[in-house]
Amino acid sequence: MAAPLIDVRGITKVFRSDLLKRPKEALRGVDLTVHEGEIFGFLGPNGAGKTTTIKILLGLIRPTSGSGTLLGQPFGSVEARRDLGFLPDSPNFYRYLTARELLRFFGRLHDLAATDLSRRIDEVLDRVGLADDARERQLRTYSRGMLQRVGIAAAILHRPRLVILDEPMNGLDPLGRHEFRDLILQLKSEGITVFLSSHVLADIESTADRVAILNEGKVVRIASLSEILATEERSYEIAFEVEAMALASFAQGLSSLKPGARGWIANAREMDEANRVVRTILESGGKLFAYHPRRLSLEDVFVQHVAASRETKAPAVATKTAPPAAVEVHERSAQASKRSESGVHS
Ligand SMILES: Nc1ncnc2c1ncn2[C@@H]1O[C@H](COP(=O)(O)OP(=O)(O)OP(=O)(O)O)[C@@H](O)[C@H]1O
Ligand SMILES: [Mg+2]
Repeated sequence: MAAPLIDVRGITKVFRSDLLKRPKEALRGVDLTVHEGEIFGFLGPNGAGKTTTIKILLGLIRPTSGSGTLLGQPFGSVEARRDLGFLPDSPNFYRYLTARELLRFFGRLHDLAATDLSRRIDEVLDRVGLADDARERQLRTYSRGMLQRVGIAAAILHRPRLVILDEPMNGLDPLGRHEFRDLILQLKSEGITVFLSSHVLADIESTADRVAILNEGKVVRIASLSEILATEERSYEIAFEVEAMALASFAQGLSSLKPGARGWIANAREMDEANRVVRTILESGGKLFAYHPRRLSLEDVFVQHVAASRETKAPAVATKTAPPAAVEVHERSAQASKRSESGVHS
């Protein structure tokens, strides 16, 4: 297999900003490889160490220990930068330049031929969807989302082999996010490798080939997206109504039981368990409204990993479950409403 475009081995970073304060261990042994042509999602909650990792890749700060390469070169190498596009987490451009002027400046930095440059600038501004009439306006008049678009345009202007984008969806509205996802997929189709840091799980889920979940300075999971979603547990959601007396027999083995729009909604992790619940409902004369096998989303997986390492006890499977569509909105049954939710959580 070809050498990875990003190779990170055992990187740690300790910040000692203040002599009086305790040193901050931002990265605690990060290993990563990103291969040519893939979209790599770098996921983590606030403060996980995503930006710190990116700064190390770019050579903006040095790791405390560990080593690695970017585009086959040591971190911070000038040679590697030619093939690299970068969007910082909060792009801060010269406010008195227009979008075209800014991109011309970047183009010259990258030695792009002047004859091609004007055409290329319009091409990338078209791609990021920056309106025509905004292109000659000073950046200080831009909204957050417009600045983000210009930042992305600057990152891809010189046709890099690898783009590193730190929270690129920040400030984009839903339409902007949608267009951005298309742009990322288009870059991939052109053979450009994309390293995408984000805590917006939906954006990663709809684009990434592989994903690393970073938490408290450590990679807690790294795998292809399909592998993560295929191997993680499924859950089975059961909507039902049953006599109060019968309810107690359900609690055991369920990852959660909560009031639904009508009756109750149970979550079982195993199919056997789900079948047992369904049998009990029917045998005790209850009503079964719906039975949904449900694959975990990346968000569920993310919450599980992050919550697990924080030793949170809340059951992760039930976090994002919407009431099943099959359940009509009715007043909860009298028996169900008598019972408190906490009393039946396992
Ligand atoms: N220069 C610094 N001095 C001291 N601590 C720092 C410094 N830079 C980052 N940190 C700390 O290191 C940890 C990781 O920060 P980092 O910015 O890498 O997180 P992040 O994953 O990018 O978070 P976010 O999603 O909020 O952007 C945080 O606890 C942060 O406070
Ligand atoms: Mg960050």
